[in-house]
Amino acid sequence: MSDRLWGGRFSKKPSEIMKLFNASISYDKRLAHDDIDQSIAHVKMLSKCKIISDADKEKIIDGLMQIADEIRSGKFSFSVDDEDIHMNIERRLIELKGDAAKKVHTARSRNDQVATDFRLFAKKASIEVIKNIIGLQKAIVRLAESNLSLMMPGFTHLQHAQPILVSHWLMAYFEMLTRDAEQFFGSLKLADSSPLGACALAGTSFPIDRNYTQRTLGFAASSGNSIDAVSDRDFAISFLYASAVCSMHLSRLSEELILFSTSEFGFVRLSEEYSTGSSIMPQKRNPDALELIRGKTGRLYGNLVSLLVVMKALPLAYDKDMQEDKERFFDSFDTIHDLLQVMSGVVSSLSFDKQTFNLSLKKGFITATDLADYLAKKGIPFRQAHKITGEIVKYLESSGRDFETVSIAELKKFSDAIDDDIKDYLLPENSINSRNSYGGTSSEQVGFQIKKAAETIKEEEQRLKLPFLNYKRSPKPAVDAIVERSGKILLIKRKYEPYGWALPGGFIEYGESAEKAVARELKEETGLDAIGIKQFHVYSSPQRDERVHTISIVFVVETSGDAAADDDASELKWFLEDDLPHLAFDHKKILNDYRLTNKL
Ligand code: ARG
Repeated sequence: MSDRLWGGRFSKKPSEIMKLFNASISYDKRLAHDDIDQSIAHVKMLSKCKIISDADKEKIIDGLMQIADEIRSGKFSFSVDDEDIHMNIERRLIELKGDAAKKVHTARSRNDQVATDFRLFAKKASIEVIKNIIGLQKAIVRLAESNLSLMMPGFTHLQHAQPILVSHWLMAYFEMLTRDAEQFFGSLKLADSSPLGACALAGTSFPIDRNYTQRTLGFAASSGNSIDAVSDRDFAISFLYASAVCSMHLSRLSEELILFSTSEFGFVRLSEEYSTGSSIMPQKRNPDALELIRGKTGRLYGNLVSLLVVMKALPLAYDKDMQEDKERFFDSFDTIHDLLQVMSGVVSSLSFDKQTFNLSLKKGFITATDLADYLAKKGIPFRQAHKITGEIVKYLESSGRDFETVSIAELKKFSDAIDDDIKDYLLPENSINSRNSYGGTSSEQVGFQIKKAAETIKEEEQRLKLPFLNYKRSPKPAVDAIVERSGKILLIKRKYEPYGWALPGGFIEYGESAEKAVARELKEETGLDAIGIKQFHVYSSPQRDERVHTISIVFVVETSGDAAADDDASELKWFLEDDLPHLAFDHKKILNDYRLTNKL
């Protein structure tokens, strides 16, 4: 391997152990595609700002696309000699493209580079986790819905407390998961500003355009302080915190399901798919899936504490200590992802035993509170009602009896306020339905919460559709061109995200007319000259472009010349209207509208 990329001032090579100790490539290679996206945005900006030439930009992007392919196909050889993913990619780029490639690191440092890559990754990770949370929420709601009226004892201190609906108990976990999703939306937001351009720590003397890279990479904002930009890992800590708390919730559910599936409780039967046998005791069916969820909570807490400790007392700005951030993050991401998937499987496949639930409801004087409430409603001060009920329980308990076997005459001995209607109050289903306060366990309340859950899920899914969108940012105007020749529509294959086929087009530059923008974009991407430009429709929705809220003015453009792909287009092709490929953005809808308009 040739010289290290930072080797100029060194006369000795690092010791072998130092080289291995320093290297992060074994794990930060997970950032490879984010690093490439980031470099592409960076060099586009450099050429746009005339810091590097257009030709160099083209070469670099070409090289980066090739590297992306090599990585995807497993042909790329990662080397610890190049320390980390950033230098591995840069090394290969130089191999491929020579001197042009040596310009990629202009107006950039690995400090803002790694911070940018990591944030791109963290945003996607948050989105992925939220999707999995939603998956589990759906499984919980399904289970609650199909066991709507099933009753169980509710516990406090793990002692029989009051009867509740099984669906009510399940929906408690739905609430926790809703908060978890909120925490991950929070870490997504913290990660959503671009540090690129902060360089080593102080910014740069090159005339860069941070706004451009920020938008291209889909960040909601650019970080306002270059020192903070390269030394902030709050977004990662927030993610680790969210993972730790989410795992705590899953661990509590695991613990309950483990207990409830024992022969002592017998409430729950876990599917064989998520249980294992014992190598010696043939009768056993162990809840390993749930034990592992409970157990792995430990590493999620550990990862959070670990990064908090790494960051504690670090002097500004970047310190190599911070390289310790990524393994913690990746581990928490992978772990919480698995936990949620496995828990969804467990929840979707378990079944309840109505009979044991009912037997259990007879134990432990579970409606004692209802008896006390009954007396209080008849005018006896609650404290006294509590005392009377306690005496009744003691009386029955000493003879091994329960509310079911006690006669009304016996009860009346304890209080004149007790009437013949008392027995109804002591039935679990009546107890449950009497608790009709908002959020209570009555069928009406639980039914309402289940309905509301569907809305919560819809809302979460809606928010996920805008992952790279700053809610506060105003929409950006863009143009798209419908070019038709002998019944065929011209489409370009996009070089950048979102990949795939699309109408030629792009963003309107500040102060430019929409007509000029569409002619310019068309020329850049297809080489065609616009000879007739007619406005079609305007399309605006936060969802139409996942990177940014766009308003697109669509034109029908008459053209001259031969088309050849260039700029943001890697390929172009004429398509028959009823033989269109999969299209990016909302271009399918646009072309459908166009076809309908033409038919009229
Ligand atoms: N591999 C490094 C990390 O993960 C990249 C940044 C290196 N920066 C530096 N100044 N040495 O943190």
